[in-house]
Amino acid sequence: VVVLVGAVLAGCGLRGAGQEGGSSSYTLRLSHVVSPSTPKGQAALRFEQVVEERSGGRIAVEVYPNSELFGDEDELQGLQSGAVQALAPASAKFTTIAPRLQVLDLPFLFRQVDDIPRVASRDTPVGRAIFANPELARRDIEVLELWDNGLKQLSSNNRIVRAEDMTGLRFRIQPSDVLRAQFAAWGAQSTPLSFSEVYTALQQGLIDGQENPWSNIESQKMHTVQRFITESDHGYVGYVLVVNRPFLESLPPDLQQVVRDGATESARFNREVAARINEEAEQEIVAARTTEIVQLSPAERAALEASVVPGVWQEMAPVIGQDVIDQLLAERR
Ligand code: LMR
Repeated sequence: VVVLVGAVLAGCGLRGAGQEGGSSSYTLRLSHVVSPSTPKGQAALRFEQVVEERSGGRIAVEVYPNSELFGDEDELQGLQSGAVQALAPASAKFTTIAPRLQVLDLPFLFRQVDDIPRVASRDTPVGRAIFANPELARRDIEVLELWDNGLKQLSSNNRIVRAEDMTGLRFRIQPSDVLRAQFAAWGAQSTPLSFSEVYTALQQGLIDGQENPWSNIESQKMHTVQRFITESDHGYVGYVLVVNRPFLESLPPDLQQVVRDGATESARFNREVAARINEEAEQEIVAARTTEIVQLSPAERAALEASVVPGVWQEMAPVIGQDVIDQLLAERR
């Protein structure tokens, strides 16, 4: 029993004698795949700061950025095994274990950044898919918050204005059925790749393009290996902050509350800084002059939207839920 309890506690991040970490009683490791300078990187650091301060150092938070500890391919496994206690993967990364979260990947779900808090608040169909997700609950994964990155832009070596401009091009996607359907509707091919592999795949010409918010494009230097970026704002990258529930419940009640408060505060901070971080990243890319930024007229953007809405939304209804799609389409009119 002693050995078993020890193993469970080690898996839950409780420090034993001789383990690193000074005087803290618990270690909470949070692994992610992007740069510390991005909206997710910044939110993770704020979470670390708040939890360490408010726990009086009883919880040590260790943030591992840039796929240093786990990458896209193994981070959810790491969470479930207790090797890390928290993650904030983009919604698309949950496709295999919680397919309904792909609601956040629907193209043009948000017409502008300002729509995100309203469309994704907890009492909406989108919010319920995130915060009351039975597939995650079944796996002992608790959802704490949604962190934003922002809206995605299309980068490519071809100038993209219309859907037809993508015919036959190969885009890297996150592993999501919705994103595959989006590019298929545009006549393009798609290849799922881990985030850490995107720059090299672009540089080597294995793919022609990809989609991401400005902050991810800039911090990975993707613009240095892409001739064009279309300011399409055609989709969303947001992060579901999740925690291993056995770990959370192993904490004394006051420390459980500290973790929840840290999540809330990090989400508030994230919403405060995300748009600005993306604007600054866009300015950096413009200043680098490696890439032509393609602006769409309102009519061109509307045409791009009409090429996937409601078509791709309806196609994905069996995965996301017809009720959710119907409600989203009704609200859009
Ligand atoms: C991507 O894989 O393109 C993004 O989800 C990476 C991230 O976490 O922002």
